[in-house]
Amino acid sequence: VPTNIDIKKEIVRLKEEKDAIIMAHFYQTNEIQDIADFVGDSLALAQKAAKTDAKIIVLAGVHFMGETAKILSPYKTVLVPDLNAGCSLADSCPPEAFKAFVDKHPDHTVLTYVNTTAKIKALSDIVVTSTNAKNIVDSLPKDEKIIFGPDRNLGNYLNSISGREMVLWDGACHVHEKFSVEKIVELKAEHPDAVVLAHPECKKPLLLLADFIGSTAALLKHSISSDANKFIVATESGIIHQMQKESPEKVFIPAPPNDSTCACNDCEYMKLNSLEKLYNALKYEWPSIDVDEEIRKDAVKPINRMLEISK
Ligand code: 13P
Ligand code: SF4
Repeated sequence: VPTNIDIKKEIVRLKEEKDAIIMAHFYQTNEIQDIADFVGDSLALAQKAAKTDAKIIVLAGVHFMGETAKILSPYKTVLVPDLNAGCSLADSCPPEAFKAFVDKHPDHTVLTYVNTTAKIKALSDIVVTSTNAKNIVDSLPKDEKIIFGPDRNLGNYLNSISGREMVLWDGACHVHEKFSVEKIVELKAEHPDAVVLAHPECKKPLLLLADFIGSTAALLKHSISSDANKFIVATESGIIHQMQKESPEKVFIPAPPNDSTCACNDCEYMKLNSLEKLYNALKYEWPSIDVDEEIRKDAVKPINRMLEISK
């Protein structure tokens, strides 16, 4: 990136010149969220990708989010700032092993969290996100046998709130498993008026002490509507930017991780993206996401089922 340019102005200029839309997940850096045309959770990003008129989608998030956009809009160019922005949760579910798991449960409906590769989606019956998972599980007949993957924490949480006994894949997100229950208990003692907000990718002991559990969009909404003035936020710290923007007078404390190397929990994949990489992606229309057409045809069906149920 040349040093003599105003990078934010150039991004806006390139975006208009090329008829591109910049979409960002809540875990992106503050400056990426602020330059984006649209900021949202995984569901909102998929919904927006399915209906945008823009020629180019720049998905500032992680690889599976770009892939989902490409699956839904195959004739558009989908760019990501950094192809290495992966996801430990998606990585915890390799396609061959998951196929064997599916084959072992032939009479089960295959429900998968959106944090997976296109190959896993192609093996699925319905995709869910944290925002719609409970509604989608509840929409299935009570006696329907279900396998759920890859997140064991979200799966256990869904089982507990829906009274189901879904068979779970044993995967997890390293960011959400890192939060320290002990340190949150200490913080609660220090700030007795603070409300604990937690993402369902967190482990059960943490969810047990949370006051409110939900997707990033649900946590944001709760932080706005709640009468409380202080919140301990147990999810990736990027969401705090929107919380603080919506409620400048409220206090948001990032939940601390177990290790003491960092005060908050950043997802190193999400944070691989930068304004410079976003600028380069727009300028050179690279790197772009491609999905094999055979896989895409199978992967789009469970995503469309999700979008249909979530209307
Ligand atoms: P949501 O934004 O859908 O809650 O997902 C969180 C997440 O882990 C995305 O990687
Ligand atoms: Fe994946 Fe976890 Fe990062 Fe979300 S926070 S992208 S689930 S590694």
